[in-house]
Amino acid sequence: MTQIWMGPLQKPCLILSDFRESQDILLRRTREFDRGPFSTSAFAGVVPNHHIAMSSLDPRFKGNKELVRDLMTPKFLHEVSAPQIYAKTMALVDLWALKAELGEGRPFNARRDIFDAAIDIINAVAFGLEDDQTTIKNQAKFLSYKSGQRPAINADGTVDFPELPTLPNIAAIEAIGLHLGEQFKAPFPRLMHRIQMLISPTLAKHFTQKDKFIRDEIDKAVVRLCKDESGTRSAMDHILQREMRAAEKAGREPIFHSPRIHDELFGFLVAGHDTSSTAIAWMVKNIAEYPEVQIKLRAALRTAYSEAHAEGRQPSVVELWKISVPYLDAVLEESLRYDGPIPITLREALDDTVILGHKIPKETVVFLLSDGPDYHSPPIPIPEHARSPSSRDRRSWDPSDMHLFKPDRWLKTTENGNIVYDSQSGPMMAFGLGPRGCFGRRLAYLEIRIVLALLVWNFEFHKLSDELSSRDSYDSITKSPVRCYVSLTKVMPKERPQEGACALNTSLDIKL
Ligand code: HEM
Repeated sequence: MTQIWMGPLQKPCLILSDFRESQDILLRRTREFDRGPFSTSAFAGVVPNHHIAMSSLDPRFKGNKELVRDLMTPKFLHEVSAPQIYAKTMALVDLWALKAELGEGRPFNARRDIFDAAIDIINAVAFGLEDDQTTIKNQAKFLSYKSGQRPAINADGTVDFPELPTLPNIAAIEAIGLHLGEQFKAPFPRLMHRIQMLISPTLAKHFTQKDKFIRDEIDKAVVRLCKDESGTRSAMDHILQREMRAAEKAGREPIFHSPRIHDELFGFLVAGHDTSSTAIAWMVKNIAEYPEVQIKLRAALRTAYSEAHAEGRQPSVVELWKISVPYLDAVLEESLRYDGPIPITLREALDDTVILGHKIPKETVVFLLSDGPDYHSPPIPIPEHARSPSSRDRRSWDPSDMHLFKPDRWLKTTENGNIVYDSQSGPMMAFGLGPRGCFGRRLAYLEIRIVLALLVWNFEFHKLSDELSSRDSYDSITKSPVRCYVSLTKVMPKERPQEGACALNTSLDIKL
């Protein structure tokens, strides 16, 4: 544990890099530690009425959680979210198949596509947006128009593809995401947000665009839901239906445009976009960097989805969430351990307390690391008597290989000889933990699982030069790779009739 001073007018903070003690704080010492102003205030300007911007003692917190309670149930995830994730991921597969063909397998920068695909996915899950609002499909259609032109080859052997201008709604989401990233670095985020809104007309315009986008989507959904046209197809539909039922029960008019509903919906994009996009970016890099892992994963997928493989088709969305593939979960989890998008979880002391025998004054901010000693390098030795009496978990990684990317560490052989995935294999905290741990964890796993499975099913990812595969990273909302290139060959199935990039929805009105 280390004490740091963040700057003028700030109280000293602590950094703790020890899984056992961190887990205890997050899971069991919730009366002593909570999300406090240091972490909530970064969100307070952007989504002040989302539960991510509230402490657990905030009187609004329970009501907000109640509103979104069902969105992470297996039923909702499988029936509503999974088909949206699947469709948007297949659009990415089509786009990359086209890019692989046009660029003849040369490396191209995949970061923008992954970023856009993650926005398409979370937008579809949150709002059930139509195809004309999805960037990746539009981009594939745009490229297929230009498919006669081969991209120029850069000096380093990479190729660049022309890009469509970003749609205004997506540009607003992106700009607000960047703005949020800046709030984490500001000493007084609330004040900084207000000042930036006053001095930057562009930022204010993005917020107006975002508000209009949510208002319009809600209005369209209410009309559709009142006509009972197509059931629940997004988180928004579910939240609005909940409000309709609550209003009917209370004998009042439903309030669809409450700040709480608007912010809980927008919070999906804020909390679920950059995180998943970064996780996928690292995953794609790791898959290319470790060919032996990639080969083993593809073989595991072909065995698990043997019918799809025999029939030369894509695994269906139901096959993807229903059939367990331990090695797929192991690769996914290892990539999150190795390159977690959020390496720090924040808590603040609610009262004077003690950590590892040291007195901690009330309101001390504690940074709990999930990237450092105990996760990627051997733990710092701590005498047992200094530990909190409730810290019980003694999980640890083998110190000789914890610095390596090794998915097998997540697999165990059962008594009857089956190989299973074990999520409790060792220290891991990519999603935080406890009652204030990541709300979207199940959705994130579902998303990344579908994306990883479909990408490895469809493409061979070739190993890249040292420069293109650099592991340098930068900090924004997440810890993101500086370089994320892919060099691809389509492996399976070679052709995708009907739904391919060249058979996109021709009713889209795209200005080329
Ligand atoms: C790989 C993807 C993701 C990662 C690595 C991630 C990680 C995290 C972490 C570390 C936290 C803080 C937890 C804590 O303080 O204990 C968090 C909170 C949160 N995450 Fe995620 N997240 C991901 C995806 C998502 C998605 C898809 C959503 C969609 C709704 C989401 C929604 C949230 C929310 C609402 C919170 C705040 C919870 C609260 O304040 O109680 N996350 N996430």
